[in-house]
Amino acid sequence: MSSKLRLGVLASGGGTNLQAIIDSCQDGSLDATIALVLTNNPDAGALERAHQAGIQTVCVNHRDFSKREDFDHAVVKSLQDAGVELVVLAGFMRIITQTFLDAFPLRVINIHPALLPAFPGLHVQQQAIDYGARFSGCTVHFVDSGVDTGPIIIQAVVPVYQDDTADNLAERILEQEHHIYSRAIQLIAEGRVHVDGRLVTIDPPCPPEAMALVNPGLDT
Ligand code: GAR
Repeated sequence: MSSKLRLGVLASGGGTNLQAIIDSCQDGSLDATIALVLTNNPDAGALERAHQAGIQTVCVNHRDFSKREDFDHAVVKSLQDAGVELVVLAGFMRIITQTFLDAFPLRVINIHPALLPAFPGLHVQQQAIDYGARFSGCTVHFVDSGVDTGPIIIQAVVPVYQDDTADNLAERILEQEHHIYSRAIQLIAEGRVHVDGRLVTIDPPCPPEAMALVNPGLDT
């Protein structure tokens, strides 16, 4: 077995975040290997992306289970059988239970298309627009028992423009998701990510990219 960190990527939809992770593994910027792509949705585009990349896949359809716990047991078994060390939720639209978290303590991460703790849950791009936020973005965080509440690893900020629709804001955010998810996984693979309660530290620390963002700009 290779010494690279073994990822299990869980996706329910199109899988563009999965694709970004595949690409990062292939170009060497992410020193990890995807051991399994798991979906709850037999029609997920993520399956085709995994097949194209020669990655093992499994579909565990939530509709085949009457209890959430039983679904989670089946998912955990598939991940364990594949030797997965880090579980990467990439547009996985199921809430996971404590059973799952107990099997992978501090080893489940998620990407969310908003700047947490603002706008957890669903339809968050529209929520940011309706609230009148000037910035939104995306967050990679460890998963805990709440909805989008776990310790934050990395965030990217994008402006919200006054003529934005949820779709074009989602597109702007997604572009950043594709950068920060692989980066978060790489930091974990390097053993640089430490968690103490809510606080995540990166050792050694990464310098920030910018000191301030202003929207609308000061000169307009
Ligand atoms: C991404 O925007 C991801 O942040 C979001 O689903 C999309 C999946 O896109 N996840 C959530 O909203 C989780 N609550 P993808 O299938 O193209 O990666």
